[in-house]
Amino acid sequence: MASRGAFNSRIGFILAAAGSAVGLGNIWKFPFEVGEGGGAIFLVMYLAFCFILCFPVMVTEIAIGRKTQKNPVGAFNALGFSKWNFVGKMGILCGVLILSFYNVVAGWAFGYFLEMVSGNFGIGANFGGYINDIGRVGLYGALFMFATAWIVSKGISGGIERAAKFLMPTLVGMILLLVAYALTLPNAMNGISFYLVPDFSEVNLGVVGSALGQAFFSLSLGMGALITYGSYVSKQDNIVQSAAFITLADVGIAFIAGLMMFPFVFSQGLEPQGGPGLIFVTLPGIFETFGGSMGIIIGSAFFLLLSFAALTSTVSLLEVPVAYVVDELKIERKHAVWVVALVIFLIGVPSMIANGDSQFFTSFITYIGAAAPTDFMTFVGDVANDTLLPLGGFLIVMFAAYVWKKENLNEEMEIGFPNKNSLVLKYIDFAVSYLCPVVLGCLFILTVLNKYFGISLFG
Ligand code: PFF
Repeated sequence: MASRGAFNSRIGFILAAAGSAVGLGNIWKFPFEVGEGGGAIFLVMYLAFCFILCFPVMVTEIAIGRKTQKNPVGAFNALGFSKWNFVGKMGILCGVLILSFYNVVAGWAFGYFLEMVSGNFGIGANFGGYINDIGRVGLYGALFMFATAWIVSKGISGGIERAAKFLMPTLVGMILLLVAYALTLPNAMNGISFYLVPDFSEVNLGVVGSALGQAFFSLSLGMGALITYGSYVSKQDNIVQSAAFITLADVGIAFIAGLMMFPFVFSQGLEPQGGPGLIFVTLPGIFETFGGSMGIIIGSAFFLLLSFAALTSTVSLLEVPVAYVVDELKIERKHAVWVVALVIFLIGVPSMIANGDSQFFTSFITYIGAAAPTDFMTFVGDVANDTLLPLGGFLIVMFAAYVWKKENLNEEMEIGFPNKNSLVLKYIDFAVSYLCPVVLGCLFILTVLNKYFGISLFG
Protein backbone atom coordinates (compact mmCIF):
# COMPACT_ATOMS: atom_id res chain seq x y z
CA MET A 1 0.00 0.00 0.00
CA ALA A 2 3.01 2.23 0.28
CA SER A 3 2.43 3.71 -3.15
CA ARG A 4 -1.03 4.97 -2.15
CA GLY A 5 0.45 6.94 0.73
CA ALA A 6 -0.61 6.69 4.37
CA PHE A 7 -1.12 8.96 7.30
CA ASN A 8 2.05 9.22 9.33
CA SER A 9 0.25 9.42 12.61
CA ARG A 10 -3.13 9.03 14.20
CA ILE A 11 -3.34 12.72 14.86
CA GLY A 12 -2.53 13.26 11.19
CA PHE A 13 -5.66 11.36 10.20
CA ILE A 14 -7.84 13.15 12.75
CA LEU A 15 -6.60 16.55 11.67
CA ALA A 16 -7.01 15.77 8.00
CA ALA A 17 -10.52 14.37 8.48
CA ALA A 18 -11.43 17.32 10.69
CA GLY A 19 -9.92 19.57 8.02
CA SER A 20 -12.26 17.96 5.52
CA ALA A 21 -15.25 18.35 7.80
CA VAL A 22 -14.61 21.91 8.91
CA GLY A 23 -15.00 24.39 6.11
CA LEU A 24 -17.50 26.59 4.37
CA GLY A 25 -20.17 24.18 5.54
CA ASN A 26 -19.69 25.33 9.11
CA ILE A 27 -19.09 29.02 8.65
CA TRP A 28 -20.86 29.96 5.42
CA LYS A 29 -23.63 27.39 4.99
CA PHE A 30 -24.62 26.49 8.54
CA PRO A 31 -25.56 30.07 9.60
CA PHE A 32 -27.67 30.76 6.53
CA GLU A 33 -29.40 27.38 6.80
CA VAL A 34 -30.22 28.16 10.43
CA GLY A 35 -31.46 31.58 9.32
CA GLU A 36 -33.73 30.10 6.67
CA GLY A 37 -34.76 27.14 8.80
CA GLY A 38 -36.39 29.13 11.59
CA GLY A 39 -33.41 29.56 13.93
CA ALA A 40 -33.00 27.43 17.04
CA ILE A 41 -35.29 24.68 15.84
CA PHE A 42 -32.95 24.00 12.94
CA LEU A 43 -30.03 23.93 15.37
CA VAL A 44 -31.77 21.37 17.58
CA MET A 45 -32.48 19.06 14.64
CA TYR A 46 -29.00 19.49 13.23
CA LEU A 47 -27.39 18.54 16.56
CA ALA A 48 -29.65 15.52 16.94
CA PHE A 49 -28.90 14.31 13.41
CA CYS A 50 -25.13 14.75 13.82
CA PHE A 51 -24.82 12.83 17.06
CA ILE A 52 -27.56 10.24 16.75
CA LEU A 53 -27.44 9.33 13.07
CA CYS A 54 -24.28 10.68 11.47
CA PHE A 55 -21.73 9.60 14.06
CA PRO A 56 -22.48 5.87 13.48
CA VAL A 57 -22.38 6.44 9.71
CA MET A 58 -18.97 8.06 10.11
CA VAL A 59 -17.58 5.11 12.04
CA THR A 60 -18.94 2.78 9.36
CA GLU A 61 -17.32 4.71 6.52
CA ILE A 62 -13.93 4.84 8.22
CA ALA A 63 -14.14 1.13 9.07
CA ILE A 64 -14.91 0.16 5.45
CA GLY A 65 -12.05 2.35 4.26
CA ARG A 66 -9.54 0.92 6.70
CA LYS A 67 -10.61 -2.64 6.08
CA THR A 68 -10.28 -2.40 2.31
CA GLN A 69 -7.62 0.30 1.88
CA LYS A 70 -9.50 1.42 -1.19
CA ASN A 71 -11.43 4.30 -2.72
CA PRO A 72 -15.24 4.17 -2.34
CA VAL A 73 -15.81 2.10 -5.49
CA GLY A 74 -12.87 -0.26 -4.97
CA ALA A 75 -13.92 -0.77 -1.35
CA PHE A 76 -17.15 -2.53 -2.30
CA ASN A 77 -15.31 -4.62 -4.90
CA ALA A 78 -12.60 -5.56 -2.41
CA LEU A 79 -15.17 -6.85 0.07
CA GLY A 80 -16.57 -9.05 -2.70
CA PHE A 81 -19.78 -7.12 -3.37
CA SER A 82 -19.13 -5.35 -6.61
CA LYS A 83 -22.88 -4.99 -7.22
CA TRP A 84 -22.83 -2.44 -4.42
CA ASN A 85 -20.10 -0.33 -5.92
CA PHE A 86 -22.82 1.91 -7.39
CA VAL A 87 -22.93 3.44 -3.90
CA GLY A 88 -19.31 4.44 -4.31
CA LYS A 89 -19.97 5.72 -7.82
CA MET A 90 -22.84 7.82 -6.56
CA GLY A 91 -20.53 9.18 -3.86
CA ILE A 92 -17.96 10.15 -6.45
CA LEU A 93 -20.63 11.93 -8.48
CA CYS A 94 -21.66 13.73 -5.29
CA GLY A 95 -18.08 14.80 -4.62
CA VAL A 96 -17.81 16.18 -8.13
CA LEU A 97 -21.09 18.09 -7.84
CA ILE A 98 -20.32 19.46 -4.39
CA LEU A 99 -16.82 20.57 -5.31
CA SER A 100 -18.16 22.29 -8.43
CA PHE A 101 -20.13 24.85 -6.41
CA TYR A 102 -18.03 24.72 -3.25
CA ASN A 103 -15.06 25.96 -5.22
CA VAL A 104 -17.10 28.93 -6.46
CA VAL A 105 -17.94 29.99 -2.90
CA ALA A 106 -14.33 29.37 -1.82
CA GLY A 107 -13.35 31.78 -4.60
CA TRP A 108 -15.78 34.39 -3.21
CA ALA A 109 -14.21 33.98 0.25
CA PHE A 110 -10.70 34.35 -1.12
CA GLY A 111 -11.78 37.43 -3.05
CA TYR A 112 -13.17 38.89 0.16
CA PHE A 113 -9.75 38.45 1.74
CA LEU A 114 -8.33 40.70 -0.99
CA GLU A 115 -11.16 43.21 -0.54
CA MET A 116 -10.53 43.35 3.21
CA VAL A 117 -6.81 43.86 2.64
CA SER A 118 -7.68 46.95 0.63
CA GLY A 119 -10.13 48.15 3.30
CA ASN A 120 -13.20 47.84 1.07
CA PHE A 121 -15.80 47.33 3.80
CA GLY A 122 -18.53 48.53 1.44
CA ILE A 123 -18.30 45.20 -0.40
CA GLY A 124 -20.95 43.71 1.90
CA ALA A 125 -23.62 46.06 0.57
CA ASN A 126 -22.39 45.35 -2.96
CA PHE A 127 -22.27 41.55 -2.64
CA GLY A 128 -24.73 41.06 -5.52
CA GLY A 129 -22.53 43.08 -7.87
CA TYR A 130 -19.38 41.37 -6.62
CA ILE A 131 -20.50 37.81 -7.36
CA ASN A 132 -21.67 38.83 -10.80
CA ASP A 133 -18.31 40.28 -11.72
CA ILE A 134 -17.58 37.04 -13.50
CA GLY A 135 -14.09 37.92 -14.69
CA ARG A 136 -12.99 38.48 -11.12
CA VAL A 137 -14.78 35.66 -9.31
CA GLY A 138 -13.93 33.36 -12.22
CA LEU A 139 -10.26 34.11 -11.70
CA TYR A 140 -10.51 33.49 -7.94
CA GLY A 141 -12.34 30.22 -8.59
CA ALA A 142 -9.65 29.14 -11.04
CA LEU A 143 -6.91 30.04 -8.54
CA PHE A 144 -8.66 28.10 -5.83
CA MET A 145 -9.03 25.00 -7.94
CA PHE A 146 -5.40 25.28 -8.97
CA ALA A 147 -4.26 25.44 -5.34
CA THR A 148 -6.46 22.45 -4.47
CA ALA A 149 -5.12 20.37 -7.36
CA TRP A 150 -1.57 21.29 -6.52
CA ILE A 151 -1.95 20.08 -2.94
CA VAL A 152 -3.68 16.86 -4.00
CA SER A 153 -1.03 16.18 -6.60
CA LYS A 154 1.59 16.23 -3.85
CA GLY A 155 -0.01 13.23 -2.11
CA ILE A 156 -2.10 12.89 0.95
CA SER A 157 0.26 12.89 3.91
CA GLY A 158 2.40 15.76 2.69
CA GLY A 159 -0.33 18.10 1.55
CA ILE A 160 -3.23 17.72 3.91
CA GLU A 161 -1.64 17.01 7.28
CA ARG A 162 0.59 20.02 7.36
CA ALA A 163 -2.14 22.42 6.28
CA ALA A 164 -4.64 21.18 8.85
CA LYS A 165 -2.35 21.23 11.87
CA PHE A 166 -1.96 24.95 12.43
CA LEU A 167 -4.95 26.56 10.82
CA MET A 168 -7.80 24.93 12.66
CA PRO A 169 -6.91 26.17 16.16
CA THR A 170 -6.21 29.66 14.85
CA LEU A 171 -9.60 29.83 13.16
CA VAL A 172 -11.37 28.60 16.28
CA GLY A 173 -9.54 31.15 18.44
CA MET A 174 -10.53 33.94 16.10
CA ILE A 175 -14.20 32.94 16.01
CA LEU A 176 -14.28 32.77 19.81
CA LEU A 177 -12.89 36.30 20.06
CA LEU A 178 -15.49 37.47 17.56
CA VAL A 179 -18.23 35.77 19.61
CA ALA A 180 -17.10 37.74 22.66
CA TYR A 181 -17.22 40.94 20.63
CA ALA A 182 -20.59 40.05 19.08
CA LEU A 183 -22.18 39.69 22.50
CA THR A 184 -21.33 43.30 23.36
CA LEU A 185 -23.17 44.73 20.35
CA PRO A 186 -26.64 46.33 20.48
CA ASN A 187 -29.45 43.87 19.73
CA ALA A 188 -27.10 40.92 20.27
CA MET A 189 -29.58 39.22 22.55
CA ASN A 190 -32.25 39.12 19.85
CA GLY A 191 -29.76 37.23 17.73
CA ILE A 192 -29.00 34.84 20.56
CA SER A 193 -32.65 34.11 21.23
CA PHE A 194 -33.29 33.52 17.51
CA TYR A 195 -30.40 31.04 17.56
CA LEU A 196 -30.96 29.34 20.89
CA VAL A 197 -34.65 29.53 21.82
CA PRO A 198 -36.59 27.08 19.65
CA ASP A 199 -39.94 27.93 18.13
CA PHE A 200 -41.51 24.54 17.50
CA SER A 201 -44.19 25.98 15.25
CA GLU A 202 -41.49 26.46 12.61
CA VAL A 203 -40.92 22.71 12.08
CA ASN A 204 -41.82 21.34 8.68
CA LEU A 205 -40.51 18.63 6.42
CA GLY A 206 -38.47 21.10 4.38
CA VAL A 207 -36.57 22.18 7.49
CA VAL A 208 -36.06 18.58 8.64
CA GLY A 209 -34.64 17.69 5.21
CA SER A 210 -32.28 20.66 5.16
CA ALA A 211 -31.04 19.93 8.69
CA LEU A 212 -30.31 16.33 7.72
CA GLY A 213 -28.57 17.36 4.51
CA GLN A 214 -26.54 19.93 6.41
CA ALA A 215 -25.48 17.33 9.00
CA PHE A 216 -24.17 15.01 6.27
CA PHE A 217 -22.56 17.83 4.31
CA SER A 218 -20.87 19.36 7.32
CA LEU A 219 -19.43 16.04 8.47
CA SER A 220 -18.31 15.12 4.90
CA LEU A 221 -20.44 11.99 5.08
CA GLY A 222 -22.48 9.88 2.70
CA MET A 223 -20.19 10.09 -0.31
CA GLY A 224 -17.26 7.97 0.71
CA ALA A 225 -14.87 10.80 1.56
CA LEU A 226 -14.27 9.06 4.85
CA ILE A 227 -13.97 5.67 3.16
CA THR A 228 -11.16 7.26 1.18
CA TYR A 229 -9.60 8.81 4.30
CA GLY A 230 -10.18 5.65 6.30
CA SER A 231 -8.15 3.78 3.70
CA TYR A 232 -5.08 5.65 4.86
CA VAL A 233 -5.64 4.94 8.59
CA SER A 234 -3.39 2.54 10.45
CA LYS A 235 -4.63 -0.68 12.05
CA GLN A 236 -3.63 0.53 15.50
CA ASP A 237 -6.06 3.43 15.51
CA ASN A 238 -9.23 3.62 17.52
CA ILE A 239 -11.64 4.70 14.82
CA VAL A 240 -14.60 5.16 17.15
CA GLN A 241 -12.70 7.63 19.24
CA SER A 242 -11.38 9.42 16.15
CA ALA A 243 -14.90 9.70 14.72
CA ALA A 244 -16.19 11.08 18.03
CA PHE A 245 -13.49 13.70 18.04
CA ILE A 246 -14.15 14.71 14.42
CA THR A 247 -17.91 14.96 15.03
CA LEU A 248 -17.46 17.05 18.18
CA ALA A 249 -14.93 19.36 16.57
CA ASP A 250 -17.06 19.91 13.49
CA VAL A 251 -20.32 20.46 15.34
CA GLY A 252 -18.56 22.66 17.90
CA ILE A 253 -17.18 24.92 15.20
CA ALA A 254 -20.54 25.23 13.44
CA PHE A 255 -22.14 26.04 16.79
CA ILE A 256 -19.73 28.86 17.62
CA ALA A 257 -19.99 30.21 14.07
CA GLY A 258 -23.74 30.60 14.69
CA LEU A 259 -23.09 32.18 18.06
CA MET A 260 -20.96 34.75 16.26
CA MET A 261 -23.23 35.32 13.26
CA PHE A 262 -26.68 35.93 14.71
CA PRO A 263 -25.74 38.75 17.09
CA PHE A 264 -23.84 40.28 14.15
CA VAL A 265 -26.84 39.94 11.82
CA PHE A 266 -29.29 41.41 14.31
CA SER A 267 -26.96 44.20 15.42
CA GLN A 268 -26.63 45.29 11.79
CA GLY A 269 -30.41 45.34 11.41
CA LEU A 270 -30.24 42.56 8.76
CA GLU A 271 -32.57 39.62 8.19
CA PRO A 272 -31.36 36.11 9.18
CA GLN A 273 -33.02 34.75 6.03
CA GLY A 274 -30.25 36.25 3.91
CA GLY A 275 -29.48 33.04 2.01
CA PRO A 276 -26.01 32.22 0.67
CA GLY A 277 -24.95 35.86 0.95
CA LEU A 278 -25.50 36.01 4.74
CA ILE A 279 -21.90 36.03 5.96
CA PHE A 280 -20.68 38.00 2.96
CA VAL A 281 -23.25 40.76 3.43
CA THR A 282 -22.97 40.90 7.23
CA LEU A 283 -19.32 40.57 8.13
CA PRO A 284 -17.66 43.49 6.28
CA GLY A 285 -19.88 45.99 8.14
CA ILE A 286 -18.86 44.36 11.41
CA PHE A 287 -15.16 44.48 10.59
CA GLU A 288 -15.56 48.16 9.73
CA THR A 289 -16.68 48.85 13.30
CA PHE A 290 -13.21 47.91 14.51
CA GLY A 291 -11.98 51.01 12.70
CA GLY A 292 -9.17 51.60 10.16
CA SER A 293 -6.23 49.27 10.24
CA MET A 294 -7.68 47.09 13.01
CA GLY A 295 -10.68 46.36 10.78
CA ILE A 296 -8.38 45.55 7.89
CA ILE A 297 -6.27 43.16 9.96
CA ILE A 298 -9.20 41.32 11.52
CA GLY A 299 -11.27 41.23 8.33
CA SER A 300 -8.46 39.97 6.14
CA ALA A 301 -7.27 37.43 8.73
CA PHE A 302 -10.82 36.09 9.00
CA PHE A 303 -11.35 35.62 5.29
CA LEU A 304 -7.86 34.22 4.81
CA LEU A 305 -8.46 31.61 7.51
CA LEU A 306 -11.86 30.86 6.04
CA SER A 307 -10.20 30.31 2.67
CA PHE A 308 -7.73 27.90 4.27
CA ALA A 309 -10.53 26.02 5.99
CA ALA A 310 -12.25 25.79 2.60
CA LEU A 311 -9.01 24.57 1.04
CA THR A 312 -8.67 21.59 3.38
CA SER A 313 -12.24 20.68 2.38
CA THR A 314 -11.76 21.17 -1.36
CA VAL A 315 -8.66 19.01 -1.09
CA SER A 316 -10.68 16.20 0.44
CA LEU A 317 -13.45 16.65 -2.12
CA LEU A 318 -11.00 16.38 -4.99
CA GLU A 319 -9.27 13.43 -3.33
CA VAL A 320 -12.37 11.24 -3.74
CA PRO A 321 -12.65 11.22 -7.56
CA VAL A 322 -8.87 11.30 -7.92
CA ALA A 323 -8.35 8.24 -5.69
CA TYR A 324 -10.96 6.46 -7.82
CA VAL A 325 -9.36 7.38 -11.12
CA VAL A 326 -5.89 6.44 -9.84
CA ASP A 327 -6.90 3.08 -8.31
CA GLU A 328 -9.51 1.86 -10.74
CA LEU A 329 -8.54 3.36 -14.08
CA LYS A 330 -4.82 3.08 -13.34
CA ILE A 331 -4.09 6.61 -14.42
CA GLU A 332 -1.05 8.23 -12.84
CA ARG A 333 -1.91 10.46 -9.93
CA LYS A 334 -0.08 13.51 -11.21
CA HIS A 335 -2.07 13.46 -14.47
CA ALA A 336 -5.38 12.39 -12.94
CA VAL A 337 -5.44 15.31 -10.51
CA TRP A 338 -5.22 18.02 -13.15
CA VAL A 339 -7.73 16.48 -15.54
CA VAL A 340 -10.31 15.87 -12.80
CA ALA A 341 -9.81 19.37 -11.38
CA LEU A 342 -10.32 20.96 -14.79
CA VAL A 343 -13.50 19.02 -15.46
CA ILE A 344 -14.94 19.97 -12.06
CA PHE A 345 -14.03 23.60 -12.55
CA LEU A 346 -15.96 23.59 -15.82
CA ILE A 347 -18.98 21.94 -14.21
CA GLY A 348 -18.88 24.81 -11.68
CA VAL A 349 -19.17 27.55 -14.32
CA PRO A 350 -23.00 27.42 -14.46
CA SER A 351 -23.07 27.83 -10.65
CA MET A 352 -20.82 30.84 -10.96
CA ILE A 353 -23.27 32.58 -13.29
CA ALA A 354 -26.43 31.38 -11.51
CA ASN A 355 -26.77 34.40 -9.25
CA GLY A 356 -28.15 36.89 -11.73
CA ASP A 357 -25.58 36.88 -14.51
CA SER A 358 -27.30 34.23 -16.63
CA GLN A 359 -31.08 34.30 -16.57
CA PHE A 360 -31.20 30.66 -17.67
CA PHE A 361 -29.09 29.36 -14.78
CA THR A 362 -30.59 31.82 -12.26
CA SER A 363 -34.13 30.51 -12.87
CA PHE A 364 -32.92 27.06 -13.73
CA ILE A 365 -35.73 24.80 -12.54
CA THR A 366 -39.12 25.09 -10.82
CA TYR A 367 -39.91 22.10 -8.61
CA ILE A 368 -43.46 20.76 -8.79
CA GLY A 369 -45.61 22.77 -6.44
CA ALA A 370 -42.93 25.40 -5.79
CA ALA A 371 -43.80 29.09 -5.96
CA ALA A 372 -40.50 30.26 -7.44
CA PRO A 373 -37.73 28.80 -9.59
CA THR A 374 -34.50 27.48 -8.10
CA ASP A 375 -31.12 28.63 -9.37
CA PHE A 376 -28.55 26.17 -10.66
CA MET A 377 -26.20 26.42 -7.67
CA THR A 378 -29.01 25.78 -5.18
CA PHE A 379 -30.30 22.97 -7.38
CA VAL A 380 -26.92 21.21 -7.35
CA GLY A 381 -26.82 21.63 -3.57
CA ASP A 382 -30.35 20.25 -3.22
CA VAL A 383 -29.52 17.18 -5.29
CA ALA A 384 -26.06 16.50 -3.90
CA ASN A 385 -26.19 17.62 -0.25
CA ASP A 386 -29.81 17.23 0.71
CA THR A 387 -30.70 14.18 -1.38
CA LEU A 388 -27.74 12.05 -2.41
CA LEU A 389 -25.66 12.36 0.78
CA PRO A 390 -28.40 11.09 3.12
CA LEU A 391 -29.23 8.42 0.54
CA GLY A 392 -25.54 7.46 0.44
CA GLY A 393 -25.51 7.28 4.24
CA PHE A 394 -28.58 5.03 4.19
CA LEU A 395 -27.05 2.70 1.61
CA ILE A 396 -23.70 2.55 3.41
CA VAL A 397 -25.28 1.46 6.71
CA MET A 398 -27.59 -1.00 4.95
CA PHE A 399 -24.59 -2.47 3.20
CA ALA A 400 -22.51 -2.69 6.37
CA ALA A 401 -25.24 -4.22 8.50
CA TYR A 402 -26.89 -6.61 6.08
CA VAL A 403 -24.55 -7.33 3.19
CA TRP A 404 -21.02 -7.09 4.55
CA LYS A 405 -22.61 -8.14 7.88
CA LYS A 406 -22.31 -6.37 11.14
CA GLU A 407 -19.98 -8.98 12.70
CA ASN A 408 -17.37 -7.84 10.21
CA LEU A 409 -18.07 -4.20 10.91
CA ASN A 410 -17.85 -4.83 14.65
CA GLU A 411 -14.59 -6.70 14.23
CA GLU A 412 -13.08 -3.77 12.35
CA MET A 413 -14.42 -1.25 14.87
CA GLU A 414 -13.02 -3.21 17.78
CA ILE A 415 -9.47 -3.12 16.44
CA GLY A 416 -7.71 -0.48 18.48
CA PHE A 417 -10.69 -0.14 20.82
CA PRO A 418 -9.69 -1.14 24.34
CA ASN A 419 -13.11 -1.84 25.86
CA LYS A 420 -15.06 -4.35 23.78
CA ASN A 421 -18.15 -4.09 25.99
CA SER A 422 -18.41 -0.37 25.78
CA LEU A 423 -21.84 1.21 25.48
CA VAL A 424 -20.66 3.27 22.55
CA LEU A 425 -19.96 0.12 20.54
CA LYS A 426 -23.36 -1.25 21.46
CA TYR A 427 -25.04 1.98 20.43
CA ILE A 428 -23.24 2.04 17.07
CA ASP A 429 -24.25 -1.56 16.46
CA PHE A 430 -27.90 -0.72 17.18
CA ALA A 431 -27.83 2.49 15.14
CA VAL A 432 -26.21 0.90 12.10
CA SER A 433 -28.55 -2.09 12.16
CA TYR A 434 -31.88 -0.45 12.94
CA LEU A 435 -32.04 3.24 13.76
CA CYS A 436 -30.14 4.68 10.78
CA PRO A 437 -31.73 2.44 8.14
CA VAL A 438 -35.25 3.17 9.36
CA VAL A 439 -34.91 6.89 10.02
CA LEU A 440 -32.72 7.68 7.01
CA GLY A 441 -34.87 5.56 4.72
CA CYS A 442 -38.13 7.20 5.83
CA LEU A 443 -36.72 10.71 5.78
CA PHE A 444 -35.31 10.15 2.32
CA ILE A 445 -38.69 9.21 0.89
CA LEU A 446 -40.58 11.93 2.72
CA THR A 447 -38.19 14.73 1.86
CA VAL A 448 -37.83 13.77 -1.81
CA LEU A 449 -41.61 13.71 -2.23
CA ASN A 450 -41.89 17.01 -0.43
CA LYS A 451 -39.03 18.88 -2.05
CA TYR A 452 -39.29 17.89 -5.68
CA PHE A 453 -42.93 16.90 -6.03
CA GLY A 454 -44.64 19.16 -3.51
CA ILE A 455 -46.26 16.13 -1.86
CA SER A 456 -46.48 16.23 1.91
CA LEU A 457 -47.75 13.05 3.51
CA PHE A 458 -48.38 14.91 6.76
CA GLY A 459 -50.76 17.62 5.69
N1 PFF B 1 -17.66 19.19 5.21
C1 PFF B 1 -17.27 20.26 4.35
C2 PFF B 1 -17.74 21.56 4.94
O1 PFF B 1 -18.53 21.52 5.88
O2 PFF B 1 -17.35 22.60 4.49
C3 PFF B 1 -17.77 20.05 2.94
C4 PFF B 1 -17.43 18.69 2.41
C5 PFF B 1 -16.09 18.32 2.30
C6 PFF B 1 -18.42 17.80 2.10
C7 PFF B 1 -15.76 17.05 1.86
C8 PFF B 1 -18.10 16.54 1.66
C9 PFF B 1 -16.77 16.18 1.54
F1 PFF B 1 -16.46 15.00 1.12
